[in-house]
This record gives sequence, C-alpha cells and structure tokens, in this order.
Amino acid sequence: MNINTQIVRALDPDRDRAAVSLAARLLRDGKLVVLPTETVYGIGANALDSEAVQRIFAAKGRPQDNPLIAHIAEMQQLDQLVSGLPPGALKLAQTFWPGPLTMVLPRGKGVPDVVSAGLPTVAVRMPSLPVARAIIRESGVPVAAPSANVSGRPSPTTVQHCIQDLSGKVDLIVDGGPSPVGVESTVVSLVGDRPRLLRPGAVTLAQLSEVLEDVDVDPGVSRHVDDGAPVSSPGMKYKHYAPRANVVLVDGTDRQFRAFLERQEKKGTYALVFDEDIGDLPVPAMGYGPREDSEAQARGLFAALRKLDELGAVQVYARTPCKAGMGLAVYNRLVRAAGFSEIKLTDRVD
Ligand code: TXA
Ligand code: MG
Repeated sequence: MNINTQIVRALDPDRDRAAVSLAARLLRDGKLVVLPTETVYGIGANALDSEAVQRIFAAKGRPQDNPLIAHIAEMQQLDQLVSGLPPGALKLAQTFWPGPLTMVLPRGKGVPDVVSAGLPTVAVRMPSLPVARAIIRESGVPVAAPSANVSGRPSPTTVQHCIQDLSGKVDLIVDGGPSPVGVESTVVSLVGDRPRLLRPGAVTLAQLSEVLEDVDVDPGVSRHVDDGAPVSSPGMKYKHYAPRANVVLVDGTDRQFRAFLERQEKKGTYALVFDEDIGDLPVPAMGYGPREDSEAQARGLFAALRKLDELGAVQVYARTPCKAGMGLAVYNRLVRAAGFSEIKLTDRVD
C-alpha cells in the first residue's frame, strides 16, 4: 500500500517548532514518523499502541520476532515501560542518558507484546538529539523505533537513505541532517546474572565497565550465531547492514591487501578501505573513514555500503578496522554485512 509521505526539516527544536509539533501529533494519532536521532534515523510509532507498532513491522518488512526499542524523553517515562530496575540501571541512565545507550530491562505490564516480540524484557533508550527528544516529549508517549531502513539494508544516516527505503510507507519523514554518530546505539542487557553487551556502539565497553563491575560480551557480537541456537538479542540472527554485493572482510597490512586485490577477479569488484588507501589500489575503492579514526568510520560506514550498491558492486573486499573503543561497533557492523566472512592475510612465500 502506498501512502502519501510528507517530508519536513527540523534541525533545531526551538526554531523548527511546527515540524516538531506535526511529528508529535502524528505519533499521538497512531501514525508512522521517521525521526532523526544521534545514532541513526528511526521509524517511530506510539509504543503503547499495538496497531501503530504493527505497522512498523509491515513498513520495514521486519520479522515479527525481532523486538523494538522504546524511546523516551524523560526519566519519569521509564515507569510506564519497566517493572523494576535491576542493579546498575539507574547508574547507567544517569551516566549515559540522554545518549546512544539502550538497556534491556524487565518489561512492564503496559508494554504491548508486539513491541517486545513477546519477550519478558523491553529495550529502552533516551536519545540525545534535541529534535528527537522534543518530538518524543511533545508526543507525550514512548516511541517504539527501529532503524528506518528496509529490513536487512544498512541503517539510514541521512534523510535520502530514509526516503529511498520508506517513501510511500510512512506518514512523515523528519529531516534532521546527517546522523552525528552513524551506527546504532550500544545495547546492554541487565536482566541476566551479569550485565551483557549485546550490540557495541558509541558507548564503549570500557565506558560501561567504568560504571558496571563486570560486563560480559555476548559471543554474537563478533561471531555467527548458528541457525536455531538461542540468541540473547533476536536481531543477532539476521543478516544485517548488508548491501546487495557480497562483502568479505580482509585483515592485513597495506601491502598484503594490495597484493590480495591483485590476485582477484576485477570485474564488479570494489574495495571498501580507509580514506588514505584510495587511489592506490588495482580496483575502484570507496573510503569509510580515516584509518585511525573509529568515530569517523562509524559516521561513514553505512553511507559507503549504500553507495557501493548504487555503483553496482558485485564483490566488495573491506579492510578490517581497529576493534578498540568505538572500533568494535564499526567491526561488528562490517563483519555482519560480510555475513561473518573474514580472511586473515599472511605473507605468501611463493
Ligand atoms: O540507535 C538505535 O538503537 C536505533 C535508533 C533509531 O534509536 N534503533 C535501532 O533499532 O537500532 P533496531 O530495532 O534496528 O535494533 C534494536 C536491536 C535489535 O537487534 C533487537 O533485536 C534488539 O535491539 N532488542 C530489542 N529489544 C530487545 C530485547 N527485549 N531483548 C534483547 N534484544 C532486544
Ligand atoms: Mg536495525
């Protein structure tokens, strides 16, 4: 079904009052609104309205067993969503909210099944982007919002990405400019025996570990979860962030990487590399950020993956990023885009 999608711009909640009010009113009325956040754009609906939330799944083509994050603007809204706060939750909220951290918490009675995909838990986040917070605050309801991409595509970091994926499927798209972080929020579960990192993001493992004593890293962060095996976060089961091309991560030095490319079929092949590498390779190359700058790589990665699709790439060899700090988030998105296929180069002696 095709609906009429309005597009408005809102960079500053005070100056762009009309756009914020329109978005808030539509959310209250059970409509679908694409809104900017500091991480990536989200496709939002009133989290307490199960019919509205159901429409998100239809618009994205999202599997029903993949739960959504409920977004709030104020701490008081937590009471509507959770049943009690596990140890550490309040401290994490005080330290990182508003910001790119999602906590998986015990689910409150008022949260519809469809938001949590029937799980006894609910994921909650308070975004920091002023326009996002203003829209949520004015709507007066918590806003369920997954990333505003068609399921399986890279998450959207510009309004153009949202238009490509969701025009005709949502009531409103709010253009808030390029997403300042560029990868989705850190997801940490607080419902098990120990806190567990389910998805790395801009709030790093080291930062979490400063607040919580022990943080486990879920194996699904860096490795493939076998079909049918239990997963801590349903999103881990699905191939994610993937362009249409076949992506392979390649870990090695500059020289090894170039030699590796020399040996490959060149037709339809692209390299996804650090910005410094461009121009010095035997196949066309797309940069995803400077080698030493994980934050810039996070901002650039999803747009680069989408551009490779536009160029008609068939095979993409991507350089493995540094995994420290926010680099772990960049690595996690890339290795998932690659369906966990990664080659480690060693010097050939032949
Ligand atoms: O930065 C973000 O988090 C963006 C913006 C829009 O806020 N949202 C986002 O949502 O990335 P989504 O739906 O694309 O990713 C949410 C992830 C999924 O992997 C999902 O499986 C997991 O969080 N998740 C949601 N609820 C969960 C729960 N109750 N238990 C475990 N994992 C959960
Ligand atoms: Mg997503």
